[in-house]
Amino acid sequence: MNEELQGGNWTHQDPDYLPPEVDASKPSIARVYDAFLGGKDNFAVDRAIALEGMKRFPDRGEGARQNRAMLFRGVKYMTEQGIDQFLDVGSGLPTMDNTHSVAQRINPDARVVYVDIDPIVLSHARAILQTNEHTRVITADMREPEAIFHHPKVEGFLDFSRPIGMLLVAVVHHLGDDEGPEELVNVYKSRMAPGSYMQLTHFCSCAPEVRDLEGVLLAMLGTGRARDMKEIVRFFDGLELVEPGVVHLPEWRPEGPVKKPLSLGGLCIAGGMGHKR
Ligand SMILES: C[S@@+](CC[C@H](N)C(=O)[O-])C[C@H]1O[C@@H](n2cnc3c(N)ncnc32)[C@H](O)[C@@H]1O
Repeated sequence: MNEELQGGNWTHQDPDYLPPEVDASKPSIARVYDAFLGGKDNFAVDRAIALEGMKRFPDRGEGARQNRAMLFRGVKYMTEQGIDQFLDVGSGLPTMDNTHSVAQRINPDARVVYVDIDPIVLSHARAILQTNEHTRVITADMREPEAIFHHPKVEGFLDFSRPIGMLLVAVVHHLGDDEGPEELVNVYKSRMAPGSYMQLTHFCSCAPEVRDLEGVLLAMLGTGRARDMKEIVRFFDGLELVEPGVVHLPEWRPEGPVKKPLSLGGLCIAGGMGHKR
């Protein structure tokens, strides 16, 4: 299992350089997720959580990869429907493929704003995006949506009077019940113009083993809350669900045959896409 987690190679010209905002002694959700994905932008403290999680939930990172794959199928779908601007909240560290690359392959003028609470995302993405005038990255907290909508890099760059692709992918499960996740998602939906789409995925309690992984994440990272299918479906209230609705991610508009029964990795996250009429 260890051979899958080979991080620690901070991507920078000088391998010893760490941006001042990066604390390698404290785990970061973005870097733990990177470790689950088999990326290299993580530290020992992050890998310890991913390894403990994989012990309890031996999907070898498949859930994270399924989530990423569904994210891209969704962005491709929205771009093909004519969506040319995206707000990707809780975007995570850029990896092999990203929202902007998927959208801009279809529409080179598509605009994307990445939002993440972790400043590591900004410092990491800055270099990658230096030459991409249609893509921006900001550090902000999804619990403060107005600060995002009125951020100087967002206002005037995204036009909220036109349809938008709102991405809340694998981020709402980092909100506790006491933080009002439904109300917060409602705020994002209320800012979407008719014709917009919202893609949302969420850690799902459909398999009992997911509770073990949830236990590891809550204990070691303080966040990562599994919710049941009914709770996940409720996040889409007021939107028309794009076929096939809210499902386990391998079943959302797959590009090929889906192997059944679904593996643990396939069961651990559910989600879908809603269309605002
Ligand atoms: C599991 S990763 C998902 C990344 C990407 N959306 C994906 O699905 O591949 C969750 C990301 O959400 C970010 N995050 C967690 N809480 C957040 C908050 N309150 N506001 C903004 N971002 C947050 C984390 O820093 C992390 O990068």
